[in-house]
Amino acid sequence: MKIDDAIARVNSILDIQPLAEAKDKKTPSGAFVEIKDVTYRYSEDANPAVKNLSLSADKDQIVALVGPSGSGKTTAAGLISRFFDAQEGSVMIGGVDVKDIGKDELMNTVSYVFQDSRLLKRSIADNLRIAKPDATDAELTEALHAAQCDDIIGRLPQGMGTVLGSEGTYLSGGERQRISIARAFLKDAPIILLDEATASLDVENETKVQGALSRLIKEKTVMVIAHRMRTVAGANKIVVLKDGGVAEQGSPTELMDRNGVFTEMVRLQTEGQNWSIV
Ligand SMILES: Nc1ncnc2c1ncn2[C@@H]1O[C@H](COP(=O)(O)OP(=O)(O)OP(=O)(O)O)[C@@H](O)[C@H]1O
Ligand SMILES: [Mg+2]
Repeated sequence: MKIDDAIARVNSILDIQPLAEAKDKKTPSGAFVEIKDVTYRYSEDANPAVKNLSLSADKDQIVALVGPSGSGKTTAAGLISRFFDAQEGSVMIGGVDVKDIGKDELMNTVSYVFQDSRLLKRSIADNLRIAKPDATDAELTEALHAAQCDDIIGRLPQGMGTVLGSEGTYLSGGERQRISIARAFLKDAPIILLDEATASLDVENETKVQGALSRLIKEKTVMVIAHRMRTVAGANKIVVLKDGGVAEQGSPTELMDRNGVFTEMVRLQTEGQNWSIV
């Protein structure tokens, strides 16, 4: 299977419909994101998954999206990477509507690290080259190292040439996540969308994944769908979504001081899981 076929397969697994290519392609003038008054319905008769949603991420800012299940967090991220187009409003990157950005350029501008990373039953090298088909082996090794995958590669019989899914070469959730972070390193896109894992990882994987992520997001514009208090507390801005719209937004301290929805979420989560926000 050639790499193009592999990409087509990934798209079909993720159920991505091909969207219209821009006629008059424009180049974004920077790594900042604005969602302006967007309404999106998955189907005509469905309730809107996001409704009159407006939010933004400035260059090199870390914005945490939080909110209850079904509040529209993943939908908002999907709109930015143009998995689907808004029926109303506009999604802009670097001042340009995503519909006017060429598909290749958009792919190179935005990296999406999924909550549940799936890998193809192909070699690790092939899985990485989805992000950059012409990457040299040295570049792959560098990306794997940056994503703290050295232990995984060292353990596999043919290193990064090992085909995944064959006997003895299954990876755990945390290991798969690190490989997909390596893919994002390779792509080196200025905007990173991160859907933080809800499942808890073992301590070693958790530490390595956190380490890999904090390196990945350095000097990048990041929108993170956050499930961990530590991530939320470290963000420049928190946007609390509710029923597809913004319930509240501000810096962590601003929101704590406001004593609103966010404060209540923190209180419930701290009670439930003994989390602390300092
Ligand atoms: N592929 C889809 N087809 C139809 N409806 C969908 C689809 N994905 C999400 N929805 C609906 O859109 C709304 C927003 O969902 P979304 O996945 O964006 O929420 P979320 O905030 O990411 O939730 P979670 O925290 O559970 O991941 C929900 O009502 C959901 O049922
Ligand atoms: Mg989600």
